[in-house]
Amino acid sequence: MENSKDHKAQILIIDLGSQYTQIIRRSLRYLGFHSAIVSPEDSLKWVKDNKSKSLKGIILSGGSSSVYDKDAPKIGEELLSLGIPILGICYGMQWLAYVHDKGAIQVVKEAKSYGPVEINFSKSGSKLFKNLQNKIQAWSSHGDSVKYAPAGFNVVATSKNEGVIEAIENVEKNFFAVQFHPEVEQTEDENMILNNFVSNICGCKKDYSRKDVIAEIQNSTKELLGKNTAVIGVSGGVDSTMLSAILTPVLGEQLRSFMIDTGGMRKDEVEKVRGITKRVGIKLEVVEKYKDKFIQEIGKTVDAEEKRVAFRKVYGEVFKVIAKSYGATQMIQGTLATDLIESGSLGKSDLIKTHHNVDLHLGLKEIMPLSDYFKFEIREMAEMFGLEELVAKRQPFPGPGLYLRVIGIPVSSELLEIVRDADHEVTEILKKHNLYDKIAQTIVALIGVKTVGVKGDGRVYGYSLVVRTVETVDFMTVKGFYLPKEVCEEIMSTLGRHKQIVRVFFDWTTKPPATTEFE
Ligand code: XMP
Repeated sequence: MENSKDHKAQILIIDLGSQYTQIIRRSLRYLGFHSAIVSPEDSLKWVKDNKSKSLKGIILSGGSSSVYDKDAPKIGEELLSLGIPILGICYGMQWLAYVHDKGAIQVVKEAKSYGPVEINFSKSGSKLFKNLQNKIQAWSSHGDSVKYAPAGFNVVATSKNEGVIEAIENVEKNFFAVQFHPEVEQTEDENMILNNFVSNICGCKKDYSRKDVIAEIQNSTKELLGKNTAVIGVSGGVDSTMLSAILTPVLGEQLRSFMIDTGGMRKDEVEKVRGITKRVGIKLEVVEKYKDKFIQEIGKTVDAEEKRVAFRKVYGEVFKVIAKSYGATQMIQGTLATDLIESGSLGKSDLIKTHHNVDLHLGLKEIMPLSDYFKFEIREMAEMFGLEELVAKRQPFPGPGLYLRVIGIPVSSELLEIVRDADHEVTEILKKHNLYDKIAQTIVALIGVKTVGVKGDGRVYGYSLVVRTVETVDFMTVKGFYLPKEVCEEIMSTLGRHKQIVRVFFDWTTKPPATTEFE
């Protein structure tokens, strides 16, 4: 794993298969401490190699196994006799209890604890919970639990409703363990538990700042790239733009930044990205000459799925041609930890990751320098880099862009122009009425069914525009954002000025049954 190269690490996190392993590392970074993540198989060797260097403590992550499973993650038990403080979390706690007493784990077949629990700390107190209230709300996610503290350990926290032992400790050996997850946001401890462990118990000194993060991204990418040339597709979003800005000074001509103008972008988007990238020293090539190819290929069908497939195909082909023109063998991607955690690929993945689809279609090795980091860290780095304008809240916009906003009629440059202008006009009206930030997403689409209208004194047989405004937390479900009457009227009269438009509809259908986009 790439993190294991971090030999400055004061804390070693052993990844026992938890969704939250990267979050432990992120929390430690946030608190100001270097850490590294290794697999259980590599952990003993890593600890022995680094014991005399920076290493001061070990955290055992959670995981989905039961200690009784045949293929449960195995850690060398020798770790326990090296005199290094250990904090076990969830599965990590169960493993710690199990290796001390094979009967201490209760297998809970049916009942699983998942969600918030109230943790009550024992009156005797523990160094781990110093400065916390007597009880906190915490996040738990486990099946098995510890049924009694093994010899040498004390119970230092329980949850009342569940009757679960939530924390044990062996003060003499500096072994601590919690059943809940102190690393996740839902646990109300303000990171105090992890801080108590690393600062008070392990004696770590703060050694990490945001500047280190940037240097680390620069150095590790340079090392991975070697003498090769890489391309980076800059979309104007915070991740790819910030990454290109960070890497340009260290990679020089080895990094080629480009933006493909697909013809489906929002109004003035290309100019905006050109301006931002220029200001931070990115030499951006805007590739415009394939716009017609996109329109031509996508315009061959009106079927939603076929349009998406056509877009992906042309995008892949163009990307490949551009990479080849630079002699690039690698592509740098702004994929974040969250994206990988969600796709379930973190932990098994390396920094150079050959996605099967990437190798199939593009034949380029993929480097993901941001795969350790989370959105808020990227936003902070962007601010440090003078890219504040990227951090400004913008509503999401799909990759295939306006191609998904011309419905039921083949796309043409003329129709794309109508939706591009209409999207801009609606956005400006919503901003003027202070509604833009309250709406999760606004979709303006052209419906390619002709109806009769009247303009001036003449009959017009034209298209309709539909304005869809939604609110949502995660886009899994959405509900309509109802616009005030006067805003609807302003939108109608503005959009009605387009020569070919005779009607404006408003769409506040929930998802389900609809989706957010029309296609
Ligand atoms: P749906 O229509 O699935 O959309 O409810 C949910 C969110 O995803 C966005 N979306 C996309 N984003 N590429 C993207 O980058 C796509 O192909 C794509 N399709 C949908 C959509 O705009 C909404 O925010």
